[in-house]
Amino acid sequence: MRSAEWTTNAECGVRNAEFKGKVVPRHDAHPYTPHSALRIPHWRYSMKIDLSEKVALVTGGSRGIGYSIARSLAGASAKVAVVARDGAKANAAATSLGDGAGRGYSCNVSDAGQVETAVAAVEKDFGQIDILVNNAGTTRDNLLFRISEEDWSTVLDTNLKGAFLMTKHAARGMIKRRWGRIINITSVVGIAGNKGQANYTASKAGLIGLTKSVSKELASRNVLVNAVAPGFIDTELTQTITPEARESFIRAIPLGRLGRGLDVASAVLFLTSEYASYITGQVLVVDGGMVL
Ligand SMILES: NC(=O)c1ccc[n+]([C@@H]2O[C@H](COP(=O)([O-])OP(=O)(O)OC[C@H]3O[C@@H](n4cnc5c(N)ncnc54)[C@H](OP(=O)(O)O)[C@@H]3O)[C@@H](O)[C@H]2O)c1
Repeated sequence: MRSAEWTTNAECGVRNAEFKGKVVPRHDAHPYTPHSALRIPHWRYSMKIDLSEKVALVTGGSRGIGYSIARSLAGASAKVAVVARDGAKANAAATSLGDGAGRGYSCNVSDAGQVETAVAAVEKDFGQIDILVNNAGTTRDNLLFRISEEDWSTVLDTNLKGAFLMTKHAARGMIKRRWGRIINITSVVGIAGNKGQANYTASKAGLIGLTKSVSKELASRNVLVNAVAPGFIDTELTQTITPEARESFIRAIPLGRLGRGLDVASAVLFLTSEYASYITGQVLVVDGGMVL
């Protein structure tokens, strides 16, 4: 049997010369053992992420970035509840995860009653929710003076209120079990601003504030709350732009290409894992270097 001791150079496989070879005691023997301490034995240098005991809920998981996230989580053996307004598409996406890994739920995240019902249904079907990814989002782009009150409310209610409602209902179980991961999908424009997107950028900047405040509230219960800020990702949401605009975006991205759903999903997967157990309240930008 392998040694149960943990080495400091187990930290994400980085062999730090300063720490190399030093051994720290097992966590349970350590005088101070924070509940969120890294729980990865030193032989696991390969960063294998195993979520086989976990249940994830991904809003907007029926297509685009959310679907990539659902696939990545299922690929790490999590059970995944796929939430979208269109229940048939949510079911189809969940079924495609294979092997009973997923289940679809119809829910408009901006409706408090529907969110409560959906969270209760997922908890009944899977027993618990360990990971919440607030990914559902929408746009109603226009210049400030042309944004209607309705378009303002639709965007804020979906992107920001939806995350608030989902978090409020899904976090209760996490708090009780003293383990949870909440990841909010914001956007680089929530950090940098963007012409023609006052409603969208306000919602995404608001999500960053929500992430930071809730991370402080839930940290003592080992519920970690972070945000991922994608740049320009090739999905249905971004299909409407002209080829010229697309080219100019690519020129503005140091890595020279648009992002893929998988680029965002990989960041989310990392944040759900034990490798991220000392990270909370952060915004991880995934944009190929576009906004520095
Ligand atoms: N694509 C990008 O370049 C980019 C960049 C930065 C950030 N983001 C963010 O990443 C997230 C996903 O974007 P995406 O490009 O993958 O979008 P997308 O392809 O348009 O997919 C949006 C998903 O959200 C669901 N949804 C929309 N409104 C909903 C509501 N009220 N309740 C429940 N589900 C709802 C949709 O399903 P239904 O229509 O069936 O409800 C769909 O599954 C969004 O939050 C977006 O703001 C995207």
